[in-house]
Amino acid sequence: IEIDAVPGPRGLPYLGNLLDIDRDSPIEGFVRLAREYGPVYRLATPAGTRLMVSGPDLVDEICDDEHYDKKIAAGLKTIQKSVAGHGLFSSDTEDPLWHRAHHILMPAFAAQAMHGYLPRMLDIAGQLCDRWSRLNPDEDVDVAKDMTSLTFDTIALCGFDYRFNSFYRDTPHPFVAAMVRSLLAAQARARRLPIQNRLHRRAERQADEDQALMRDVVQKLIDERRASGEIERGDLLGLMLTGVDRQSGEGLPDDNIIAQCLTFLIAGHETTSGLLTFALYFLVKHPEYGARARAEVDEVLGDDAWPSHEQLHRLTYVRQVLEETLRLWPTAPLFTRAPFADTVLGGRYAIPAGTPLTVLIPMLHRSVAVWGPDAEEFDPDHVAAERLAALPPNAYKPFGTGQRACIGRQFALQEAILVLGMLLQRFEFVDHLDYELKVRTTLTVKPDGFRLRVLPRPGRS
Ligand code: HEM
Repeated sequence: IEIDAVPGPRGLPYLGNLLDIDRDSPIEGFVRLAREYGPVYRLATPAGTRLMVSGPDLVDEICDDEHYDKKIAAGLKTIQKSVAGHGLFSSDTEDPLWHRAHHILMPAFAAQAMHGYLPRMLDIAGQLCDRWSRLNPDEDVDVAKDMTSLTFDTIALCGFDYRFNSFYRDTPHPFVAAMVRSLLAAQARARRLPIQNRLHRRAERQADEDQALMRDVVQKLIDERRASGEIERGDLLGLMLTGVDRQSGEGLPDDNIIAQCLTFLIAGHETTSGLLTFALYFLVKHPEYGARARAEVDEVLGDDAWPSHEQLHRLTYVRQVLEETLRLWPTAPLFTRAPFADTVLGGRYAIPAGTPLTVLIPMLHRSVAVWGPDAEEFDPDHVAAERLAALPPNAYKPFGTGQRACIGRQFALQEAILVLGMLLQRFEFVDHLDYELKVRTTLTVKPDGFRLRVLPRPGRS
């Protein structure tokens, strides 16, 4: 079957399927289309034709690094252009700088390196707990907002030894404001037709100013670090300034270090904050699993104020809660691959080389064939260690795949386990508004407008 014959909504001349894409909730829209058109469907947009893939066997096929590679498709291109440059996330695998940065930075994200980040992670988690413990009983919290402050401050402190002090500010740090604007603008840009973009000069000017501001902040960090004479501080910046790729014998140029810093600030906070927000959402909606997680926390952490590395490893049920959250709502819900050569997908569909194939992770993760009849239900036992180990290959992909998988996976999980553990240890949560899930999609997905009352557990905060 030729690519044009792959099932999919019919579309219009010139606009293609633009009107079939749900602008308010694109991911839920893609999931609806997958339920209608099946494990692979075709979408034509002015940027070109892409296939949306969610069948486990098809996803397994395109995860093969020998025949397929990550593709920097239209959406990522705009992120590359306006914010992240040629950082790890938005560069091609064949870019020599991707290899160099990958080799230099991998050790900083290996499991052994996580010990080193623990004190800084605890510092910021402690700030969140302090804030929540001082609320009056009738006050509530905007969960996504506080989680975003937490994850942003954590990656900045662990990555660059820099404090944004988000919990101590009424208005966002100018850097954060510029970054949020840039990401929104990049997204709006990706949705406009090329001709419309030419008419948005003011938006483009603002984008240039924002980019200059972000780069200045990071350049200043680099300059200050060099001037301080204490370049290595056990963080990512020190490593990037001193590290040499053993293969090429070269280090990273400043311009690329800036791109990597911006990349870590973006990739390192949106996804983890969404994960923590969804996790609290699922736990208040399923108190039985919340009680089980809390019982584990009480047993492992007891009254210890600051969890140790060894205790975090014993919070296996808390980890399952997080992994199950990422099954139903993987917070980076798409990744895009393309075949090196013309190929036949699933033994059926003739795909020209370079065709973007986008993996729709939330739908992949809801396969009844893989997870059973209750695939749509939240139950942390779905991801119990023995079940994860017995899954078909590439059936669970919240962190992407192969050599282009998430470099920050261990970092994100350590941070999320630590924070969820400390929160369960100290607080009860009340879903006083009987919140109904509404997913907000920016670069990532998170629950929109989710507020909770947070009460100290007697004798614990
Ligand atoms: C790549 C998910 C946290 C840094 C990715 C990809 C996914 C992902 C799906 C692959 C994207 C693609 O193929 O286009 C997540 C999730 C997270 C998380 C769900 C949290 C729950 C983090 C953190 C950091 C980070 C904390 C940094 C500290 C990166 C980078 C890449 C990446 C640099 C690009 C890697 C490369 O291509 O070399 N992430 N991520 N992520 N992530 Fe994460």
